[in-house]
Amino acid sequence: MNKNRISDLVLQALETEKGGVQVYETALRCVMNDDLKEEWTKYLEQTRNHVEVVVRVCEALGLDSDQETPGRLVVRHVGNSLVRAMEIALDAGEPTAAQLVAAECVVEAETKDHLNWELISQVAKAMKGAEGKALKDAYEEVEEQEDEHLYHTTGWCRELWIESLGMPAVLPPPEEEKDVKTAIGAARAEHMADASR
Ligand SMILES: [Fe+2]
Repeated sequence: MNKNRISDLVLQALETEKGGVQVYETALRCVMNDDLKEEWTKYLEQTRNHVEVVVRVCEALGLDSDQETPGRLVVRHVGNSLVRAMEIALDAGEPTAAQLVAAECVVEAETKDHLNWELISQVAKAMKGAEGKALKDAYEEVEEQEDEHLYHTTGWCRELWIESLGMPAVLPPPEEEKDVKTAIGAARAEHMADASR
């Protein structure tokens, strides 16, 4: 296993969670739907905890959580860009459009977050000893929440877009109602929404 790449992955994961906090704080300025506001408020709190979870992983792996890496800089740049994108949408003064931009930005941020944690789970399976256990424990703590953040927000994004296009939308989306936590479940939920139109 490549130790340097594993360190970079963990530091990217930390930067992604920190960026996620900023993304949710800004997205909550854009949201209009009350149910979605409630969801994102919950996800913001969970993401703040994920920052702590990854800081603990850094400690277990003997990593300096402030250490910069090229990969981490890119993650920070993308996070700042997502925040900036929402600010541009807010400045335009079209609340419906700003809410959609926020949903897209959350989906983008959570797609990277989800990938990080999938990779961390793969590393955890292959890594032995206390370091492997620290990764496994961290993954088990966040796994279900990460699935929810990505799949449920993807459903919200699609259905809010469809509503804005003047077509029948399923709100809250089936991903939320069926409490989807897998890619297969998300595909089923999307099909369910399509079939109801
Ligand atoms: Fe997260």
